[in-house]
Amino acid sequence: MPQKQRKILVTSALPYANGSIHMGHLVEYLQTDIWVRFQKLRGHTCTYVCASDAHGTPIMLKARELGISPEELTERVSAEFVRDFSDFDIEFDNFHSTHSPENEALVTDIYEKLRENGDIYTRTIEQSYDEKEGMFLPDRFVRGTCPICKSADQYGDACEVCGATYSPEDLIDPVSVLSGTPPVKRDSEHYFFKLSEYTDRLRNWMDSAALDRNMLAKLEEWFETGLQDWDISRDAPYFGFKIPGTEDKYFYVWLDAPVGYMASFKNLCARDASLDFDDYWKAGSDTELYHFIGKDIMYFHTLFWPAVLKGSGYRTPTSVFAHGFLTVNGQKMSKARGTFINGRAYLDHLNPNHLRYYYAAKLGPTIDDIDLNLEDFIARVNSDLVGKLVNIASRCAGFISKRFDGQLSATLDDRALFAAFSDSADPIAEHYENREYSKAMRMIMTLADSANRYIDEYKPWLMIKDEGKSDAVQSVCTQGLNMFRSLMIYLSPVIPGVAAEARAFLNESGWTWNDAAEPLLNTRINKFKPLLTRVETSQVDAMVEQSKSSLTKKVEAAPVTPDNSISIDDFMKVDLRIARIEKAETVDGADKLVALTLDVGDETRNVFAGIKAAYDPATLIGRHVIVVANLAPRKMRFGVSEGMVLAAGPGGEDIFLLSPDEGAKPGMRVK
Ligand code: MSP
Ligand code: ZN
Repeated sequence: MPQKQRKILVTSALPYANGSIHMGHLVEYLQTDIWVRFQKLRGHTCTYVCASDAHGTPIMLKARELGISPEELTERVSAEFVRDFSDFDIEFDNFHSTHSPENEALVTDIYEKLRENGDIYTRTIEQSYDEKEGMFLPDRFVRGTCPICKSADQYGDACEVCGATYSPEDLIDPVSVLSGTPPVKRDSEHYFFKLSEYTDRLRNWMDSAALDRNMLAKLEEWFETGLQDWDISRDAPYFGFKIPGTEDKYFYVWLDAPVGYMASFKNLCARDASLDFDDYWKAGSDTELYHFIGKDIMYFHTLFWPAVLKGSGYRTPTSVFAHGFLTVNGQKMSKARGTFINGRAYLDHLNPNHLRYYYAAKLGPTIDDIDLNLEDFIARVNSDLVGKLVNIASRCAGFISKRFDGQLSATLDDRALFAAFSDSADPIAEHYENREYSKAMRMIMTLADSANRYIDEYKPWLMIKDEGKSDAVQSVCTQGLNMFRSLMIYLSPVIPGVAAEARAFLNESGWTWNDAAEPLLNTRINKFKPLLTRVETSQVDAMVEQSKSSLTKKVEAAPVTPDNSISIDDFMKVDLRIARIEKAETVDGADKLVALTLDVGDETRNVFAGIKAAYDPATLIGRHVIVVANLAPRKMRFGVSEGMVLAAGPGGEDIFLLSPDEGAKPGMRVK
């Protein structure tokens, strides 16, 4: 059935240009790339654009720290992105930057239109200001003692120990992380976008966008709380675009970042005459526009961005596709455990097709998190790709090339079996279209099983010994190779590198989705070379080892000074004891906390510990830890904490409970 040719524009979120691409990012870029390759294979016009997200305070400060300009930093990082993406076979039609003339022109124009509508107003707000550095401080750049649980050295927006959220003004003894001086309060005029006036229009958009159920629920929640107007300006110094008509105000990075999607496309249009900017972006356009994003940036893409587009007279996204977050071995990626793996570290040891297949086998259309379990990765890839898929070809190819001079037979041995392969084209395509990749992979592997069963049944390696069966060997192997070929066509969006080699082996110049329906017969193919090798545990181990970073820099001890030293008498007051963890539970409403019930010898204590990012509570039960037993009980938001367990490390995922040796018993004093 001929399908209507669609015109589709696809984006992935723009990676911040101050770090490297890691395994988490790759969930998104691979999910998108697979979808785009699928659409292209089906014959649609599908354009995939992306860019570096170049602006904002962290990038400005990182450049300062390195002693280079932010332009230079983002150019360097972008060059690294381009190499990494290309080595993972992620094929953008364009990779641009938000720090580009196209983007400046577009964002300025959009802003002017919003202003003409009356959607922009100014209001003076009070913010933390670092007098020494001469700049306003984002919340994350102020640290101090938590006003709730009194833990030292907490961020200005939330406490990592008790999970409380607050604003930097609430911190006790706040300091700027830039200069170490206490910030002062200072007034500044900010520019706001009236998001609140877009509620009805956004609801209409939401109804048309066919969003995932979980996303709709989230949006519903936001509508219920009421949409707040959006602060779109930042004060100098800032790396970004200046707001027209001001001297020292800049567009907040999140205003110009999604405009970067348009800018990257515009930049592409300038060199590709077949693409017309207005065709894709004017209001009422009949082209399709999809944004692939992570669940953490939904607010920006489902509220701010459609509102900004509507307000400035452009089309809105056809839909927004959000995915979940990656965990590695069931836990957040951790530098200390070597599971914070950069794309490059993976590429140094492993084949990109393996990861592409593994993610595809796990991905669905929802915002559920996905886990990269390294053992499962090895087992899955070896069993499916090497054991099932490539095996079909390697068991048939040799006979065709050695005995039949590379010639495929003129007919198939089992038409009906082949029909099962061609009839699967539609349901597999539907799964790809709906981003049900795991379902598509399951169907494909079920077909691979039936192909292997077929070969097992005929055993061409035995048939070949029987003179009279030589023709039959040719048609059985032709059957096997044709089943392999259909599967490779179906898999080519996922493992394009392997598919390209398979195609070259079959001596074909290009594939479209529909080619899988027609068998390849009566033609000469090339000599078979192994398409994929098994993943070895040693390769994965080497990658993990390479990803382990030493934390020495962050945990450097401060020099002892009269101001920070304590006397031996002070120290002797601290009653340190061995405790055994009896119970460990998560705390509702606190992201970072685990509620521990400790056996300290003659009694039990309840202690809250900010270790959830580093430890799965279930794994803690039965462990011995060291506890400060005579700490005065502290009332926290979630209950009273009756002590403190000792741990080391810079915090977050990289925190390590101090665990004494086997012989330790609850209640023992630690000296
Ligand atoms: N610069 C913004 C996006 C602007 S789009 C107009 C940004 N950049 S990011 O580098 O932090 O993230 C890029 C994408 O990668 C986001 O969609 C984010 O959700 C995704 N991921 C980053 N870490 C991830 C995991 N650990 N797991 C899955 N996706 C993750 O956000
Ligand atoms: Zn706290």
